[in-house]
Amino acid sequence: MCGIVGFSGKEKAVDAIYTGLKHLEYRGYDSAGIAVNNNGSLRMLKASGNLENLKQKLDNDKLEGPCGIGHTRWATHGAPTDVNAHPHLSSDGKFAIVHNGIIENYLELKEELIKEGYKFLSETDTEVIVHLLEHYYKGDVKEAFLKTVSRLEGSYAIGVICSDNPGVAYAAKYFAPLIVGIGDGENLFASDVTAIIGHTKNVIYLEDGEFAEISKDKVTIYDFKGNEVKKEISKVEWDVESAEKGGYEHFMLKEIMEQPKAIKSAIEPRIKNGRIVLENEEELASACKNIERIVISACGSAFHAGYVGRYIIEELCKKSVKIEYASELRYSSPVINEKALTIVVSQSGETADTIAALKECKARGSKVLAIVNVVGSTIAKLADFVLYTYAGPEIAVATTKGYTTQVAVFDLFAVWLADKLKTIDEKIYNNLVDDIMQLPERIQRSIDLNPNVEKLARKYYKNDVVFFIGRNLDYAVGLEASLKLKEISYLHSEAYAAGELKHGTIALIEDGSLVVALACREDLYAKTMSNVKEVKARGANVVAVTDEDNKDIFTEASDVILIPKINSLFVAACEVVPLQLFSYYIAKERGCDIDKPKNLAKSVTVE
Ligand code: F6R
Repeated sequence: MCGIVGFSGKEKAVDAIYTGLKHLEYRGYDSAGIAVNNNGSLRMLKASGNLENLKQKLDNDKLEGPCGIGHTRWATHGAPTDVNAHPHLSSDGKFAIVHNGIIENYLELKEELIKEGYKFLSETDTEVIVHLLEHYYKGDVKEAFLKTVSRLEGSYAIGVICSDNPGVAYAAKYFAPLIVGIGDGENLFASDVTAIIGHTKNVIYLEDGEFAEISKDKVTIYDFKGNEVKKEISKVEWDVESAEKGGYEHFMLKEIMEQPKAIKSAIEPRIKNGRIVLENEEELASACKNIERIVISACGSAFHAGYVGRYIIEELCKKSVKIEYASELRYSSPVINEKALTIVVSQSGETADTIAALKECKARGSKVLAIVNVVGSTIAKLADFVLYTYAGPEIAVATTKGYTTQVAVFDLFAVWLADKLKTIDEKIYNNLVDDIMQLPERIQRSIDLNPNVEKLARKYYKNDVVFFIGRNLDYAVGLEASLKLKEISYLHSEAYAAGELKHGTIALIEDGSLVVALACREDLYAKTMSNVKEVKARGANVVAVTDEDNKDIFTEASDVILIPKINSLFVAACEVVPLQLFSYYIAKERGCDIDKPKNLAKSVTVE
């Protein structure tokens, strides 16, 4: 969702800000804008639509000045128009502001400010912040800023410039992402690392309730009471190439191809001398010792990774595992207490629903383990334990390596926990660890075995609807494959537990329907094949996904996608990869905007 960049340096801020916004495009947006401070005079340009529209304005009307702020807006309050786009200016023209998040008490504040005589130009909640700044400003920006944030309820990351302080940009963070980059003769802040990695690898992860003041050679951080806070400077592990396409047509394709490497990064540091060693494992083991159940909560693809985790943990650890959408958890009456371990899963670590579920579970006494990709994210900070997925930056909106690395971490965690709970013996443990270590190579083989997926996509891309069927882990993978297809190709697709089909949905199967049958769990193969026969009898075309040793499949299916043989428990990551490619090529045939599907945002920071 919305992206923020702030910059203070020696030269034209607008170039650094525009490039930063380009790198934040993937978060999803529908308008953009930049404001700069040129020797005490604020100037801004905004445009609805994509950044190219803003670029045209910038090309015709130069924004000069070494310090400024920029924004990509994903509309919540008010349509994506030029007027609603950020930055917003105070009535006296002294302040420009950009904002990510939602001000929950904005109506009440707006009423109060209107009574004071302030005029509102936009429909946004953001505009109340800039008028409050003007209202409280008596010559000290920090003081006005701190008074302003004390009035705000909700979540926000804010960037501000003030005409009285050329060369200084201000930022505040409260339950929305914001980091500070420490450069050489220039400093920045941004919603995430991708926007600043071209300038510096040195970053400060702001905490909620912190406020930053940056100039070209100084960064000072305060808490919301105005006390200076000493912060650690962290080094970002990856480099600028990771956030670029590297010769691929789309980020999504690049990220699919990166999966063997990403899975290796998730697994290798955690296997030492044949043993799984997790971060903070003594405390984690002690938190798991007396648990009666596990609750997994997440959204979208992360939920689907949790679905995989559920089956593996139940099978290996003999614990009851409940999986609940994070967006629903608070509205059910979940049995969550100190006897439950909660696992939340999130690539971005900023998903509002998942944060809310995490807080709910903690409030009920459960310890929370987070499986997260983005280092220093809100979820990573709020959880009791964190297992990072080390997938590197994921730019395509539709997750691929984010999902498979989450699955790989579940594989490790399930085997680790089974060992701690003594539900598996040493021999089984050793075999399972060997199987996990083979995953990167098997995933590469999953890619290599399927050069024909593109051709297959060309055969089926005009189908109106696609059904994915499978049982147990095959079903869990079907859920993810189906989501991938619909989000990037806009094709209607559904995933069903194969045995459920005949209880209603089979009514939809007709001549030419496309059914993708996931049949990689050897123990369930015969059962799934009986469902394949049912749909074939009603005229469906069947694409089967199975392992490469299975020769019988060619008589059952119209087309076949093969994956390498692997322990059925760990099949999910291998099985999903050719289906990600299938979705990718279908979307390409249909002429879709693959990296930025319509209506979607990369990190969903509103509930
Ligand atoms: C789908 C996708 C989404 C996310 C979901 C949760 O490709 O990316 O369904 O999985 O929005 O996001 P995170 O993992 O950032 O919490």
